[in-house]
Amino acid sequence: MKSGLIVSKIRNGTVIDHIPAGRALAVLKVLGIKGIEGYRIALVMNAESSKLGKKDILKIEERKIEEKEAELITLIAPEATINIVKDYEVVEKRKQEVPETITGLLKCSNPSCITNNDPEAITKFNTLRSKPLILRCLYCETRLTEEEVMRQILE
Ligand code: CTP
Ligand code: ZN
Repeated sequence: MKSGLIVSKIRNGTVIDHIPAGRALAVLKVLGIKGIEGYRIALVMNAESSKLGKKDILKIEERKIEEKEAELITLIAPEATINIVKDYEVVEKRKQEVPETITGLLKCSNPSCITNNDPEAITKFNTLRSKPLILRCLYCETRLTEEEVMRQILE
């Protein structure tokens, strides 16, 4: 069934589409957007989607998404599409892959890991699987699950 247009098209900005249902707020959080910045934002949660059953959509006017931010988004929304809109047209559609390594963003959950004890050490995780997400610490091999990554991003 085709869903009706809940919010209007935007003129210029970014549409992040195919976000797993319920995770649009986590995506906003990853982007550091609190709402007080003044961007005009449309957030649709639990919209019908042929691919995902239900999905979230985020439309942000006059805001670009940096490469680093796009990588972060893949951790919570691996299927997300980032659409760049100019003059009402989608001029670019980015489908980001989960990065092979994630550096300096997440904490290792092992308290005796070097990254939790040496103030100079920077965390580094390898992606073992992207869906559901499993990461492995390069230093102590401790695994981080999707739930743990979500928890860290949202805290
Ligand atoms: N969109 C928007 N404003 C525009 C153009 C597009 O808000 N001026 C939104 C659409 O509503 C859609 C997303 O951007 O949610 C992607 O648009 P488009 O590529 O036209 O849609 P699809 O072809 O359905 O995208 P996909 O194949 O990625 O599902
Ligand atoms: Zn570790």
